[in-house]
Amino acid sequence: MSNYHIKHLEEYYQVYRKSVREPENFWAEVAEEHFMWRKRWDNVLSWDFKKPEIKWFEGAQLNITENCIDRHLRTKGDHTAIIFEPNNPDETAEHITYQQLHDRVCQMANVMKDKGVKKGDRVCIYLPMIPELAISLLACARIGAIHSVVFAGFSSKALASRINDSACKMVITSDGSYRGSKTIDLKSIVDGGLESCPTVENVLVVNRINSDITMKEGRDLWLQPLLDAASAVCEPEIMNAEDPLFILYTSGSTGKPKGMVHTTGGYMVYTAYTFKNVFQYKDGDVYWCTADIGWITGHSYIVYGPLANGATTVMFEGVPQYPDFGRFWQIVEKHKVNQFYTAPTAIRALAKQNISFLENYDLSSLKVLGSVGEPINEEAWHWYNDNVGKHKSPIVDTWWQTETGGIMITPIPYVTPTKPTYATLPFPGIQPALMDESGNVIKGNQVDGRLCIKFPWPSIARTIWGNHERYKETYFSAYENMYFTGDGALRDEVGYYRITGRVDDVIIVSGHNLGTAPIEDAINEHPAVAESAIVGFPHDVKGNALYGYVMLKETGESRDQNNLRNEINQLIKDRVGAIAKLDKIQFTDGLPKTRSGKIMRRILRKIASKDFSNLGDTSTLLNPECVQVIIDESL
Ligand code: WT7
Repeated sequence: MSNYHIKHLEEYYQVYRKSVREPENFWAEVAEEHFMWRKRWDNVLSWDFKKPEIKWFEGAQLNITENCIDRHLRTKGDHTAIIFEPNNPDETAEHITYQQLHDRVCQMANVMKDKGVKKGDRVCIYLPMIPELAISLLACARIGAIHSVVFAGFSSKALASRINDSACKMVITSDGSYRGSKTIDLKSIVDGGLESCPTVENVLVVNRINSDITMKEGRDLWLQPLLDAASAVCEPEIMNAEDPLFILYTSGSTGKPKGMVHTTGGYMVYTAYTFKNVFQYKDGDVYWCTADIGWITGHSYIVYGPLANGATTVMFEGVPQYPDFGRFWQIVEKHKVNQFYTAPTAIRALAKQNISFLENYDLSSLKVLGSVGEPINEEAWHWYNDNVGKHKSPIVDTWWQTETGGIMITPIPYVTPTKPTYATLPFPGIQPALMDESGNVIKGNQVDGRLCIKFPWPSIARTIWGNHERYKETYFSAYENMYFTGDGALRDEVGYYRITGRVDDVIIVSGHNLGTAPIEDAINEHPAVAESAIVGFPHDVKGNALYGYVMLKETGESRDQNNLRNEINQLIKDRVGAIAKLDKIQFTDGLPKTRSGKIMRRILRKIASKDFSNLGDTSTLLNPECVQVIIDESL
């Protein structure tokens, strides 16, 4: 069936029109022809954005690992599924075939089963980018356990709150991790977190750095001896299409992180179908996404999407600057990477380096370049296009979210003409709408508004773990019968979309989505702090950096402000993670507030970016006089 692989623009429009006119037939055809179902669905789609309730392929049964592994074994058993490129370039890369992946996933699944993990149980995975990370996800899916991957850069506190939110029974981690020239003591972070996690029965520990860690008796187990003793056969658990596959936490503008729940059937179909088209993946190609599996990009486009297509996917343990800024290009040359998918913040950091880091390597294998995570600025887009793509590899600027599960607005390479900074056109099945502030759909082109999606797609998150009310409130209450993304966007004269950025209190720093509330909560824990407010301001590599306005309890306090700054950043590092540290801290005696007591961040954002013109009407503030004081202090 041709729908699965779009090859020219006319075909895109045909497929797109069909996906809007007959969404159920469209998705049923994709699902039918390209996947292995143990039982066919009774109903393609039922939905109600008011409740909200969304079900795809209801009644169908499957196991996603059969689709990602077993069905490739007959023809591709000896093809490489995963290329593992270690942090240290002198350590040999590992090529894991589909057969080996099968065996290792089954062994891991058997170890987990043996330790009492059952269908529906939650397993927290806190690992660096080593093969065991991908294998752990798949092993959970094999036995129907719900994985909850926590990025291994998060602090003990952040880890513990995620483990407790979904009552995980097991944690899979490693003794430590390599990151450039540093080693990180992961296990002690886990130990710290687990002091307050009563539901965790076992911790499986991968030996990655050979460090002499403490193992808690009765709880902690070295993984390798258990794997060695485990069988390489594990029958897949048969799952319903709407059974949860995983939980992945994402920050919100308020309160604690949201455990987005993704289910099995629709997620599989959508990530596989988008992977095939957005990267124009052909058998034999080598695909590399530089994200960490701790984020949705890694779940969907390092693990599930590529493997469902029988692809070869690269997993890189290290960082772009180690041993030097040529590392990415060295890896592209070494593994002859055909599709390369990275983030604007990485592109900007690489673009600042001497061009010889790039010119030393042969990048002629590249066919498609991807970008994701935040708006890509014009300069970075051109640098990527000129130097990496050399004007022959199209750039796919892919817009999507943890909540959407898969890529939503994107060019299809060699099909959609690209335009710098534009994510261009909706993927088949995606129906965007731009809304004005009073809730009306904005029609026509050359307009801007708040980006919503008006019809469900197969990989939309179905709920927030344990808090359906918050799911409804966050995504389905701003506009009637619409999924609200939290982003602003504009639509140009030909219908291309450009995502302009968040319209809520989420700030994207180096591609990481950070909510202001948890950071402010951490700052406010400091005994000297009365109140604080965080805003983003432009940064040439990170995209945005964090600026904190901090009000102290005693004004004019004689404490050493540099010490205070360090203490505040240390608190943020402990409570949230190093990524959320503030670049600038301004101590102030007042924060601008509305009469209802809400901090006016709009004004603080302008001051932080040194844009003092047009501060808007400040007369409605409770304390308008503080604005000029804050401006003066900032200079
Ligand atoms: C937010 C979602 C989806 C994987 C990584 C981030 C921003 C993402 C783009 C893009 C402009 C983008 C949006 C979105 N974003 N991709 N191509 N152009 N903005 O997932 O952490 O859930 O963040 O990232 O603001 O809402 P996430």
